[in-house]
Amino acid sequence: MPTIVEIADLKKLAQKRVPKMFFDYADSGSWTESTYRANESDFQKIMLRQRVAVDMTNRNLKTQLVGQNISMPVAIAPTGLAGMQHADGEMLAAQACEEAGIPYTLSTMSICSIEDVAAATSQPFWFQLYVMKDRGFVNSLIDRAKAAGCSALVLTFDLQILGQRHKDIRNQLSAPPRLTPKHLLQMATRPGWCLKMAGTKRHDFRNIVGHAPGVTDLSSLGAWTAEQFDPKLSWEDIEWIKERWGGPLILKGILDPDDAAIAAQSGADALIVSNHGGRQLDGARSSIQALPSIVDKVGDQIEIHLDGGIRSGQDVLKALCMGAKGVYIGRPYLYGLGALGKPGVSKVLEIIRNELDITMALCGERDVTQLGLHNIDPASEFIK
Ligand code: FNR
Repeated sequence: MPTIVEIADLKKLAQKRVPKMFFDYADSGSWTESTYRANESDFQKIMLRQRVAVDMTNRNLKTQLVGQNISMPVAIAPTGLAGMQHADGEMLAAQACEEAGIPYTLSTMSICSIEDVAAATSQPFWFQLYVMKDRGFVNSLIDRAKAAGCSALVLTFDLQILGQRHKDIRNQLSAPPRLTPKHLLQMATRPGWCLKMAGTKRHDFRNIVGHAPGVTDLSSLGAWTAEQFDPKLSWEDIEWIKERWGGPLILKGILDPDDAAIAAQSGADALIVSNHGGRQLDGARSSIQALPSIVDKVGDQIEIHLDGGIRSGQDVLKALCMGAKGVYIGRPYLYGLGALGKPGVSKVLEIIRNELDITMALCGERDVTQLGLHNIDPASEFIK
């Protein structure tokens, strides 16, 4: 077992353990992947101010997101097919988050269902909603999330239509996964993964199969998924969703200040500055670049979160200093899951927590809620 000190170590290990088509699914962005790359590299353009001789004895990472107490300002982002990185992946990741005291967000397109994750945990988790054309099914998803005790609804707004990912096409990856000879070959080189998959019954989108009308097996699921994302999704939809849900609502996928202004008036409790991890509009700004103009425009009206490109506690700290109240991590937790299962996700959270804590102290700060632009070197990019 290699020594694991940073997220990149878990990524390398996941690549060795997860079949190529599923590792690539996590590790890809749309088209040229320029936005995916910028999400990560733009964090390097922000420099922190080092301050010394401040008493660092008592430090605090605890905060609140949408009124809920959490142990650090980090949540797990919703990611489809997490249960293909590791058998029962969503249940394991939710358990790791519960132990770490942070929110886990379950994707609509997860392998394990809302009910599977609820049965595997004892604290509330968050649920991410895609708005499908079949509004009856969307209503039933909201009702199931409520019944399972989910404590926030993350409504994804940047996927009315799917961005193209070259790697998925080359790997013949379909939703839901359908086995081809190429896949069997890729899986044969990952016997540990196969063994664990053979030990679970959770192999398809269990939020959908058996719940959406007419979707009873893999082939009906494929046809249903292909035509269900709703290109007509609009700001008006927030109202009925909010009413049916009745709890904290977080709007995910805002990258433009003008959209942020509408989002702030929409009745949502928070928005997530996000470009879907560079998987939708290739060529759009990185999340961290987009953050300052959104904070300027609506920072006093709505809680602002961010995801995209966070690979360390230093990245978390930079986003907080620039005005995000909390951040989400997507790929890093998938790497942890693929590498080591639940202990891998716990390791990711431990690495990020330690890096955040030490970096905060080296900036001369003791409390994560007190970070701000005063901690950023004014010579950094994206700072006025
Ligand atoms: C995602 N993302 C995503 N978002 C969402 O709202 N619903 C989903 O089902 C998915 N699925 C998904 C799968 C995979 C493999 C990835 C990598 C991402 C986007 C995700 O929530 C988040 O916005 C990004 O992952 C954040 O970027 P990082 O942390 O991965 O760089």
